[in-house]
Amino acid sequence: MIEHTILITGGAGFIGSHLTRFFVKKYPQYKIINLDKLTYAGNLENLRDVENEANYVFVKGDICDVNLLNELFERNKFSAIIHCAAESHVDRSIADPLAFLQTNIIGTASLLLTAKKYWNMDYSDKVFYHISTDEVYGSLNDTGFFTEETRYDPRSPYSASKASSDHIVRAFYHTYNLPIKISNCSNNYGPFHFPEKLIPLCIHNILNNKPLPVYGKGENVRDWLFVEDHVRAIDTIFHKGKVGETYNIGGHNEWTNITLVKELCRQMDEKLGREKGESKKLITYVKDRAGHDLRYAIDATKLKNELGWVPSLQFEEGLSKTIDWYLSNELWLNDVTSGQYKNYYEEQYHKR
Ligand code: NAD
Ligand code: TYD
Repeated sequence: MIEHTILITGGAGFIGSHLTRFFVKKYPQYKIINLDKLTYAGNLENLRDVENEANYVFVKGDICDVNLLNELFERNKFSAIIHCAAESHVDRSIADPLAFLQTNIIGTASLLLTAKKYWNMDYSDKVFYHISTDEVYGSLNDTGFFTEETRYDPRSPYSASKASSDHIVRAFYHTYNLPIKISNCSNNYGPFHFPEKLIPLCIHNILNNKPLPVYGKGENVRDWLFVEDHVRAIDTIFHKGKVGETYNIGGHNEWTNITLVKELCRQMDEKLGREKGESKKLITYVKDRAGHDLRYAIDATKLKNELGWVPSLQFEEGLSKTIDWYLSNELWLNDVTSGQYKNYYEEQYHKR
């Protein structure tokens, strides 16, 4: 007996696929419809283990396609939307900002308008849950943390597009009473992470003895959270979070990029049976990212105190699990790094 039909957008991407798998398996009484455009970042291989489950349906399509959204809402009585679809990589947003504004802003607004139209003021047991990022808060210096009260100060086209979508989601709550929730999470890592992002890129390059491109001096700080911990937080907020509220998600796990890359090298030397210090020789300092945010750090006290969520995994352990996954899934890695990725890599790194 189906209790809820939930639309997950971007379910073939990194976080979306972990979330989709988690919901499909944990809640057989929910029907999960995954709407994904399958951009370079979307990959149905990420969901092979659940693709035949009775409570799972995949729909290929664009969240900006209002006709398709109307059709989907006509055919299904969605009680919830968990909106993960986005263009998500800062470097790509520097090269091509319009794609980010289109999907992250217009796509989010299209979903909001369609939900408003079909829910037609009957908001009981409905929720529009928008998945966002800590990058909307801008950049910290050496001290302090982002709380839910921190003023938005996005600095990249990516973070500006996410900040804009957060504002529009909140506007629909205040103006039309649409029942929304938002969470802003720190940097995720784990299996199925597309190798344009720092951790999987370094794993891939260490494996292939290629340079490890560290931007600037490697002193920028990110607060890393294992993707399955993020998914548990989303599950908690989805079921127990208050409508209209925002929750920050993070693991109090700050690393400078250079220390992180060295830790990856250390663990991979051990796992690959390489001489101690060998992979570290691949570290190459390259031209800094334009407008590179110095430090992100999340204060997740509200989520802990109000809903009882805390991260489950220590970083070294999470990193080890992640490396093991990539080592056992070289086919996946080779597949996503062939074709288009090669052109991106040339463009992005050979100019630096
Ligand atoms: P991702 O790039 O791995 O996946 C994005 C997915 O969205 C892909 O499957 C892609 O095909 C799909 N998509 C893109 N444009 C689409 C469109 N127009 N219509 C339908 N589908 C489309 O991203 P991710 O890292 O999994 O991030 C998911 C969400 O979480 C994003 O909203 C991102 O801003 C947010 N977030 C990410 C992180 C992180 O560290 N990765 C941290 C905090 C928040
Ligand atoms: P990234 O994984 O792109 O996430 P975000 O920009 O959303 O934080 O980058 C993480 C950090 O690593 C960021 O400070 C930029 C840096 N970085 C490098 O030094 N080299 C690289 O090749 C990449 C992709 C990122």
